[in-house]
Order: sequence, then C-alpha cells, then structure tokens
Amino acid sequence: MKKKVLILTGGGDCPGLNAVIRAIVKFFNKEKEWQVLGSIEAFNGILKDPQEIIKLTNKNTAGIHVKGGTILRTTNKGNPFNYPTRNVDGSWSEVDKSDDLIERLSEMGIEAVINIGGEGSQAISQKLFEKGLNIIGVPKTIDNDLSSTDFTFGFRTAVQIATDSFDKLVTTAESHDRTMIMEVMGRDAGWIAVHTALAGGAEVCLIPEIPYDIHKVVARINKRYHKGRGFVNIVLAEGAKPIGGNVVVQAGGEVGYEKQRLGGVAYRLSYELKQAGCKADIRETVLGHTQRGGTPIAFDRVLATLFGIKAGELVMRREYGQMVATKNNDITSVPILEAITDYNYVKTDSFLIEAARRMGISFGD
Ligand code: F6P
Repeated sequence: MKKKVLILTGGGDCPGLNAVIRAIVKFFNKEKEWQVLGSIEAFNGILKDPQEIIKLTNKNTAGIHVKGGTILRTTNKGNPFNYPTRNVDGSWSEVDKSDDLIERLSEMGIEAVINIGGEGSQAISQKLFEKGLNIIGVPKTIDNDLSSTDFTFGFRTAVQIATDSFDKLVTTAESHDRTMIMEVMGRDAGWIAVHTALAGGAEVCLIPEIPYDIHKVVARINKRYHKGRGFVNIVLAEGAKPIGGNVVVQAGGEVGYEKQRLGGVAYRLSYELKQAGCKADIRETVLGHTQRGGTPIAFDRVLATLFGIKAGELVMRREYGQMVATKNNDITSVPILEAITDYNYVKTDSFLIEAARRMGISFGD
C-alpha cells in the first residue's frame, strides 16, 4: 500500500497556491511508494460527510502553476478547533472537531499533511502538531505578515497589481489636478502599501504600523499644489488608522469568520482630509480582491515551486512541525511555532521606511 500525503489550502487565496500544489505532486511522483491527495476547501474536505478528497496526479495538476486561486478551493471559516456547526434550532455553535479530524486522517491512512496557509492556518498546524499530527506548513499570504520567512509567495504579485493600478491613477490625477487615494490590502502590516508607494512614487503612504496625523497629511498635499495646480497620489493600507483612532470595519455576520472584515478606509481618509481643510479634489479607489486574483508573476511561481519541493523533502525526512521558509536567498525551514510567535510588522526604524522617507514619502507622522 502506498503512503499518503494530503495537501490542503486554507485561509484567503493567494497567487502561487497552485504552483505549490503542482510542485508537491511532481516531487512525490518520483517517490513511487507515495500517493498525493488533496482535501477540498481546507479541513472541510476531511470533516464533511461525505468527505471531499481527491487524488492529485501529474495529469490533473498539469499547467496549473500559471493559474491564480487554488484548484483545492479554500475557506477562512473552517478552523477545526472552532468548527462552525449548525444546531437543531438552526443557530450556529463553534465545536472543537480536532480529535475527529485526527481520527478521520488516521482512518484514511494519511501519513503526513501539508497545510498551505497564512498565519491563522499555521497556528492551526501547530495545534494539530502538538496533538500528534505529522504536519508541515507552507506559508502563503499576499500580506507578507508571516515572520521567520523573508517573503511569502503572492506578495510580489499583489504589489505588481497594486503598482499597475497606482500608475494608472497617476495619469488621471495629473490630468485633473486631483488627489487620488488608493486603498490596498494589509490588515495589520503595511508591506503592500510601502512597496507600492516606492514602486509607484507616492507622496503619502499610510500603514497600520504608523498612525497618522491628518494635518500632516494635508500639509504634504498642500506642498504639491501651486495656484491650484498639482496632483497627489496616496496609497494606504486597509488597516491604516489616525493617531488615537481605529480601523474601518465592514459589517460582519459570516458564520465561522474569525477576523474582522476591513475595507473602506479610503473613504474615511477622504472625509477626514476635507474636514481638515484640504482643498484638492479627491477621488478614492479601493483595490480589494483584485490584488489576490489572477496569474502569479514569475517570481512568485518560482518561490511557490521551491516551497513545494522543500515541503516534499521535509515529509521524506519526517521533519514534522516545520514550516518551509526563505531566508537570505535560501530555501530552508523553521519550527511552525517560531513562525507564529512573532507577527511580521513593517519595522518603523527599518531601512525600507528610512529610504521611503528619503524619497519624500510622508507617513503622516
Ligand atoms: O490575509 C490576506 C487578506 O488579503 C487581508 O489583507 C484581507 O483583510 C483579507 O485577506 C480579506 O480576506 P477575505 O475577504 O477573504 O475574508
């Protein structure tokens, strides 16, 4: 009987997920005693009745590395430790299904699980590892907010998408003497915003790590206008907030969704600027999920492929509880616990921020 390795993708999707899946399948194709399976929609495929588990082969993964999304589908509402379960009266409760999950995996004869996911998914990996599951983590997120790895795949694709949009907004801002506000993703970390601001040449960049003073932002905008002529391009992360203020939260209500849904901060900034006396015409663009969709750029395809091969190696060496990582241009691994202990914020005293300031980018502080 062949040994079985099960792959799943959890949390928000991210360009490059399919490239990881394809690489893992190719890796095990050379290991004849192994078979690769995929769980549909993260842990749901294992916990649902009937289960949704598919065989992954060279044939059904051929060419998928160029596609966005994930052929295995995903969810950010299926934490097995707080699993949304419907009660007889129609209401929902969160139930710990982790024992059931581990039992089902053992009944299926699964030797190892590879969990491709962000910070929330890797926290689940760690808890399952502590319960004895043979699990390997592969980090993914466009937000680049996982520590212990220099980058996650998907991040650079998101920055490219944001930069392309930013460039378009520059020409229309210039034509109308407008101030353009572009909102990008980044709930707690402003990596996409800072990289886009540098790539596009923004005047203002607002990120969660540096709460802003609206009057400083107005002052920076005013500096760019002379006799009513001029234009400004602002990029701000969805988690940006004024000094002493809060993030902008969207209505919740999705069963099992464990985070706050952010979005719309561009409109608040626009309002605050007007209230603070900004005279410029202002327009807002919320990029949203376009940053997560579509084809991964070449860099992310390569990084995702290397991560997939490394994950295969870790399974073969039985180095469970490890997360694949890239450090100093090398592909390596770290304990999952280490990766989830610290959050990867943009360091306010980093060279990245210092260089951005030198380039004339204001963080509103
Ligand atoms: O974690 C990545 C991310 O893109 C965040 O920046 C964003 O807040 C979140 O996912 C939104 O995810 P979803 O709309 O899938 O809940």
